[in-house]
Amino acid sequence: MLLGIFVSNLNDMENHLINSMQNRYAVKKFDAGKKLTDQQLNAVLEAARLTATSYGLQLMKIVVVDNPEIRKELVLHSYNQQQIADASHLLVLCRERKVDASHVEDFIKNVANTREQDIDKLEGYKNMMLRDMASMSEEEQVIWMDKQIYILLGNLMTALAVLNIDSCPMEGFKPAEYDRILGLEEQNLASVLVLPIGYRATDDPNALRKKVRRAEDQFIVRV
Ligand SMILES: Cc1cc2nc3c(=O)[nH]c(=O)nc-3n(C[C@H](O)[C@H](O)[C@H](O)COP(=O)(O)O)c2cc1C
Repeated sequence: MLLGIFVSNLNDMENHLINSMQNRYAVKKFDAGKKLTDQQLNAVLEAARLTATSYGLQLMKIVVVDNPEIRKELVLHSYNQQQIADASHLLVLCRERKVDASHVEDFIKNVANTREQDIDKLEGYKNMMLRDMASMSEEEQVIWMDKQIYILLGNLMTALAVLNIDSCPMEGFKPAEYDRILGLEEQNLASVLVLPIGYRATDDPNALRKKVRRAEDQFIVRV
C-alpha cells in the first residue's frame, strides 16, 4: 500500500477519505452486470452539479448515456476501450460550444431569483463577467471552459470514491465523433472528457497494480 508519512495519525473521517482515495483506481474492466441504483446516480449527479466553476457560470452539462447500442458505437471512437460499454453508466462531460452574453444574463437571473436579490444590483457583476469574457479570444474561451471540465472530473472522481463507486477518467476518445453521435452540436455542447462509472470486475488486472506516485518530498514544496 502507498502510504505517505503524513497519513499516520488520522481520525475516522480522514481515514475514510484516504482509504477511499487509495481504493480508487482507473478501472480497465467493469462488471457489466452491476448497476448503480437511481438513488446512487442522483447523488453522484448532484455532487457534480455542486462543483465550483469560474464565477459560478457553469458553462457545462453532463450527458448520461444509457442506450447500450449507442455505447457500443462509442467504443469504436474510444480506442476500443470497453469500459465505455461495460460500465453501469457513461457520463460525457461537456462544455458549452460557444459562449455569449445570454449565458451571463441567464446566470444573473438565476442569482437574483435564488438569492431574492434586486437584479439591478447585479449589474456591475454582470458587466465584469461580460468584459472578462470579451477580452478572451474564442480559443481562450474554449481553454477556460475546458479547464473547468477537469475540475468537474476531479470532483466527480472524489465523490465517487467516497461513495465506493468505481470509475475511469478518460481523454482517450474522439470528441468530434461523440459530438456527432450524441447530437451535441445541436445543443451547443462539445464533449471534453468521459467518465464511465460502476463497479470493477473481480478479474480487472488493474485492480492489483500498486499505485505509483511521487514521494512526498517530490510533490510538496513547503515555503
Ligand atoms: C484526464 C485523464 C485522462 C485519462 N484518460 C484515460 C483513458 O483514456 N483510458 C484509461 O484507461 N485511463 C485514463 N486515465 C487514467 C490514468 O492513466 C490514471 O488515472 C493514472 O495512471 C493514475 O492511476 P490511478 O488513477 O489508477 O491511480 C486518465 C486519467 C486522467 C486524469
